Amino acid sequence: MDVYGLLGNPVGHSLSPPMHEAAYRELGIDARYVTFEPEVESLEAAIRGAGALGIKGLNVTIPFKQDVVTMIELDDLADRIGAVNTIGFEGENRTPVGYNTDAVGARRALEHHDVALDGARAVLIGAGGAGRAIAFALADAGATVTIANRTEEHATELAQAVPGATGHSLGELESLLANAEVLVNATSVGMEGDRSPVAADLLDRRLTVMDIVYQPLETRLLREANEAGAETIDGAWMLLYQGVEALEQWTGQEAPVDAMNESLRGELSDSSGAFK
Ligand code: ATR
Repeated sequence: MDVYGLLGNPVGHSLSPPMHEAAYRELGIDARYVTFEPEVESLEAAIRGAGALGIKGLNVTIPFKQDVVTMIELDDLADRIGAVNTIGFEGENRTPVGYNTDAVGARRALEHHDVALDGARAVLIGAGGAGRAIAFALADAGATVTIANRTEEHATELAQAVPGATGHSLGELESLLANAEVLVNATSVGMEGDRSPVAADLLDRRLTVMDIVYQPLETRLLREANEAGAETIDGAWMLLYQGVEALEQWTGQEAPVDAMNESLRGELSDSSGAFK
């Protein structure tokens, strides 16, 4: 039996085990996906130990995504983003290599909905860990990225690292959105209290609006975008596609996207607990 795992703290409510195990069943792979909560001091030992034990692959989540960067080799994208959410063990020595499938996951979520990114003008709200991965994903796909953030300085700092990007305050959203085709919320606003990072009257039918918040699935932003006639993409799509991309990285097989999606949406509708 193969073993895959998730390193984070806490990971008790993670949706990744059922989603990945749904994929193993569909592919006929004899494998389990388990969660681990190491202390940050033992993180590097945990990764190397996982390799020594023959664990096939690891995901990494909060709070370890940045810590891992200094501990293992990285692929180019994870290196540019400065965060790792997926580790593969490669070569005869089972050398751990870090990837960032959050970025590719965001791109694939948009592509799944036929959003053309090459040449698109995209407004990204948020400049934290998730915002950083999405900014690189959008720019790599050929979009012009405009980053708006509560703390403007964080947006301008991120924009300096992303080709062609500019950084702004949330107060500039009205003029930024007037010229955009794509809007992505990469902040946690919307998770609690039915709040939206964007005033409803700035939304219209020309926009495709993606939220990374998946609890609730229909955030206030998506509800108001829908009411304005915009296309909407909920937060479960990025969660799904980061897992799809990780599974394909580990197994070299095409992931059973529908089975994984069904599992994820079943879990999200079954429970009102907090998820990671
Ligand atoms: P993650 O790694 O999940 O992206 P993070 O690094 O804490 O989380 O980043 C959170 C993002 O949400 C940041 O862009 C943050 O803005 P600041 O840079 O100003 O902190 C944004 N954010 C969090 N709470 C917010 C709120 N109430 N209103 C607007 N933006 C908020």
